[in-house]
Amino acid sequence: MMDPWQECMDHCLGVTEEAGKMIRDALQKDISVMQKSSPVDLVTDTDQKVEELIISSIKKKYPSHSFIGEESVAAGASSILTDNPTWIIDPIDGTTNFVHRFPFVSVSIGFTVNKQIEFGIVYSCIEDKMYTARKGKGAFCNGAPIKVSMQQDITKSLVLTEMSFKKDPEHFRILMANMERILSIPVHGIRTPGSAAVNLCLVACGAADAYYHMGIHCWDMAGGAAILTEAGGVIMDVTGGPFDLMSRRLIVASSKNIAEGIAKKIQLLPCGRDDVS
Ligand code: IPD
Repeated sequence: MMDPWQECMDHCLGVTEEAGKMIRDALQKDISVMQKSSPVDLVTDTDQKVEELIISSIKKKYPSHSFIGEESVAAGASSILTDNPTWIIDPIDGTTNFVHRFPFVSVSIGFTVNKQIEFGIVYSCIEDKMYTARKGKGAFCNGAPIKVSMQQDITKSLVLTEMSFKKDPEHFRILMANMERILSIPVHGIRTPGSAAVNLCLVACGAADAYYHMGIHCWDMAGGAAILTEAGGVIMDVTGGPFDLMSRRLIVASSKNIAEGIAKKIQLLPCGRDDVS
């Protein structure tokens, strides 16, 4: 039987390559930086141009589809996920890295139908690594199959997280306390690469064993979640329950053992939902 969404994925691949080239070209020029919600929540005109490029190209081909894009939502668009085929887009995941030319910068696109992720594409465009996954068909980096590390022992794991600064001192205290709790398990180490989508791909290809984060958005997670799952990874909510794309939080790991070990250790941070304004 024909795969109804493969054509969408092929189109997505083309436009993601174009977007990555646009980002690399922009890195050769001056970058003008603007603030969004706070002095550490950054956006550039490249974020906006790349999102326009992606959405206009897809809309032309699939006019009835829905979109949840980071910059469109920042400009007031809805981020309610429906059963309609929906493209969830982060034009530059790792904007702070982009501003500093720190080399983990990605274009992340996840595609859902009936609220289920059908495929994901994450292009780490400075490294030129194109991660792809179609539901049920495995995960790939530049066309070669990838797999999680299969590590079961949390004390031998390398863990990723991110340190999004919030003005609220209690939030900051929990963020730091969680890192201390994880480090003192002990684990081999913690890394914070600065792009949630790249973090998911690093676990997917076995370069790290786990990643936890509270306070990100569906556009940071959708593309990478497909890749992680198809690479054999485990994805769950930070409570240990089922993963919810709109919940703004997740744990992923090479094994259930490690994911549950992290869930048991960390304290919850209130972070709201993407589908509640
Ligand atoms: C950010 C990155 C970063 C995470 C932030 C996200 P953006 O995405 O994924 O790793 O710490 O919470 O907002 O804003 O660069 O698309």
